[in-house]
Amino acid sequence: MLTIGILGLGEGRSTMSAALNSKKYKLKLVCDRNETVCQQRAKEFDFPYYTTDYQVMLDDKDIDVIAIYTPDHLHASHIKQALLHNKHVVCTKPFIDNLADAAELLELAARTGKKVFVGQSSRFFEPYKKQRADFSAGVIGELITVESHYNADHRWFLEKKWALEDSFKWLYGGLSHPVDFIRWYLPDIEEVMGYGMISSNGLKAGLRNEDTMHFIFRATDGRIARVSGAYTGPIQPASRESGMSCILRGTEGASQADYHELRYAVTTSAGEEKIITWGDATLKHYFRFEGQSHHAGEYQNYLEYFADSIEQDWVAYPDIREGIGTVALLQAMDKSLKTRVPVKIKEILDVYGL
Ligand SMILES: NC(=O)c1ccc[n+]([C@@H]2O[C@H](COP(=O)([O-])OP(=O)(O)OC[C@H]3O[C@@H](n4cnc5c(N)ncnc54)[C@H](O)[C@@H]3O)[C@@H](O)[C@H]2O)c1
Repeated sequence: MLTIGILGLGEGRSTMSAALNSKKYKLKLVCDRNETVCQQRAKEFDFPYYTTDYQVMLDDKDIDVIAIYTPDHLHASHIKQALLHNKHVVCTKPFIDNLADAAELLELAARTGKKVFVGQSSRFFEPYKKQRADFSAGVIGELITVESHYNADHRWFLEKKWALEDSFKWLYGGLSHPVDFIRWYLPDIEEVMGYGMISSNGLKAGLRNEDTMHFIFRATDGRIARVSGAYTGPIQPASRESGMSCILRGTEGASQADYHELRYAVTTSAGEEKIITWGDATLKHYFRFEGQSHHAGEYQNYLEYFADSIEQDWVAYPDIREGIGTVALLQAMDKSLKTRVPVKIKEILDVYGL
């Protein structure tokens, strides 16, 4: 069993639930600089061990793993401090929001020998797990193309102060999910282009960066993919269009995994058409709080996968290199939004000597 500490108790609330329900972890300490949030979580989970000072968690020799859920622009410094204190690290998506920190983090991870895992929660959600297993078993033949989107009515999110800062981008906060799907199936994306805009709802709220975006990608082997996201307006009923979907089109079949309604559809190489949904027990594992916008189930799945990788000494993916690759792609996408021309990922990596 590993001992874990959790930093940042907004989304870290779901991680507390995940760790407290897991046989592979002992939750020792949680940290948020906002004491009111600490007190709320202490009461909710009947777990009184909190601190408002990250240093206390870093100095705790019993803690093997630190799980980080602070605002995007703070991840790099929080990961760095965890590695410097010899902790294994789980960091939520987006891994970092600027490649300027990447080389140092890679060097630190190699020097300390500690494992770094990127919490790309959607990979650990039932329909996407099933889609991946079918794909790996050859159910749809060879992959032709991937299409993915993540649309959400996140107007409520704009009440958070950091959502209206220059550093906050839906490109990183939202599109990092479908972009991770693209890289899961087509790791070697060579070039990307896209358009984006701030919607009138976003402008009114004071948003600084694009909340509506469409992108296309080209891999080194010539295959193409696309990704879209819109974050500041209503979405369609989930029974018609899941907020987040990943569609794989293969030589022998096709499949679609949907986040909302936990739905998976596949046409197999044998010509069979199936639509799969999951029952109450699975729903209860994933949706422990109000609504369907929490991720405790996915977090428990990935924390346990990461625990196995530490105990059995193998690499849990996405690891630090894959995480940095996705950030490079996001940074290329950002550049394409500004220049309105295709951007090569290598150009971005070269700038940072990666
Ligand atoms: N599916 C997912 O994986 C998923 C879903 C939602 C959010 N997230 C990620 O989780 C992260 C946090 O998002 P959120 O919605 O919880 O934001 P939030 O603002 O609600 O919570 C962040 C918390 O971090 C605390 N904090 C900030 N700096 C700190 C510091 N130096 N020391 C200790 N605590 C500090 C804040 O007080 C706050 O309570 C973001 O990176 C976001 O992208 C991931």
